[in-house]
Amino acid sequence: MYSTQIIGVGHYVPETIITNTELEKYMDTSDSWITERTGIKERRFFTEGKDTTAKMGVKAANMAIQRAGIDKMDIDFIIFATLSPDYYFPGSGVLLQREMGLRHIGALDIRTQCSGFIYGLSVADQFIKTGMYKTILLVGSETQSNFIELSNRGRSMAVIFGDGAGAVVLQRSEQPNQGILSTHLHADGSYAEELMCQHPGTQRKQRITPDMLNDGSLLPYMNGNMVFKHAVVNFEAVIREALEANQLQPDNIDLLIPHQANLRISQYIQKQFGLPDEKVFNNIQKYGNTTAASIPIALSEAWEQGLIGRGKLVCMAAFGSGFTWGSALVRF
Ligand code: COA
Repeated sequence: MYSTQIIGVGHYVPETIITNTELEKYMDTSDSWITERTGIKERRFFTEGKDTTAKMGVKAANMAIQRAGIDKMDIDFIIFATLSPDYYFPGSGVLLQREMGLRHIGALDIRTQCSGFIYGLSVADQFIKTGMYKTILLVGSETQSNFIELSNRGRSMAVIFGDGAGAVVLQRSEQPNQGILSTHLHADGSYAEELMCQHPGTQRKQRITPDMLNDGSLLPYMNGNMVFKHAVVNFEAVIREALEANQLQPDNIDLLIPHQANLRISQYIQKQFGLPDEKVFNNIQKYGNTTAASIPIALSEAWEQGLIGRGKLVCMAAFGSGFTWGSALVRF
């Protein structure tokens, strides 16, 4: 069986920076509250008319392709993870394919929210390992600032989420014990409503009503305490699962890239595994939680900083809405 290597990483974030202090203008919050609870100092908001989920994905993908040193026409398949697609349907994968002028290859959208990149990595790995495809483009991209509300009513979500995109190029390799060593995916739908955006959905005859506009039910909802409690337990468990599956120990990890949900969650996991600061990558301070884009943006920045050179063991893990969670161990 083949193995799957990550041969290129890229990212793009919109230019508009929104600091915590700026949010204070719109809601009762403070830089110190947001920093203490989440670690976030600023986030990026998209520019209408310039950035869309697909277009940001294209920019990240072009960077990943250029760094991989491949011709974009070598790509056999597209996987696009997002909870904030350009359209209700079709998915953003086909828009990216059109915008990049790629061949008429398949384009699959993944909707597992914050775990979208890990799910996408796993799907790509199965296609490549079995020989079905040789080169896959995996993108995570989010435009979340247009469904949060900068008000007291929207405060719990508004301070956490941001926009951006990340991408990786995955390629078949014949070298054993390299590339993606394993992926581990989980979900528990009994908590579906604890972090969700209910409307517009298909449960009502009328998808959007004037009531929904007024009562705030078009806004996403999060039970922050519940999410926090499940996140810390499941992040830890799914990282342990990955290590055990490969008979590795925590100190074998060269770099842990947790989904950038909340700095306190990352610090808790770091402590559970006894990892030093330099082995845990965090950039939530600059971008907030960019959902499916957070791990590939972090991967790309870690690569730029020389942290994921050849032979390094990188562990990625995510938890989010669904609840869904997962991990991946990759030997670069
Ligand atoms: N700014 C200022 N104060 C705020 C606030 C904000 N943005 N949001 C809530 N508060 C206030 C509340 O009104 C409450 O005040 P009170 O004690 O006077 O009633 C107080 O802060 C505590 O609120 P609570 O909701 O219990 O805060 P918390 O300590 O649980 O922190 C989160 C909220 C969202 C930061 C925290 O629950 C969390 O990090 N959850 C995980 C979220 C996450 O990771 N989501 C992404 C998953 S992929």
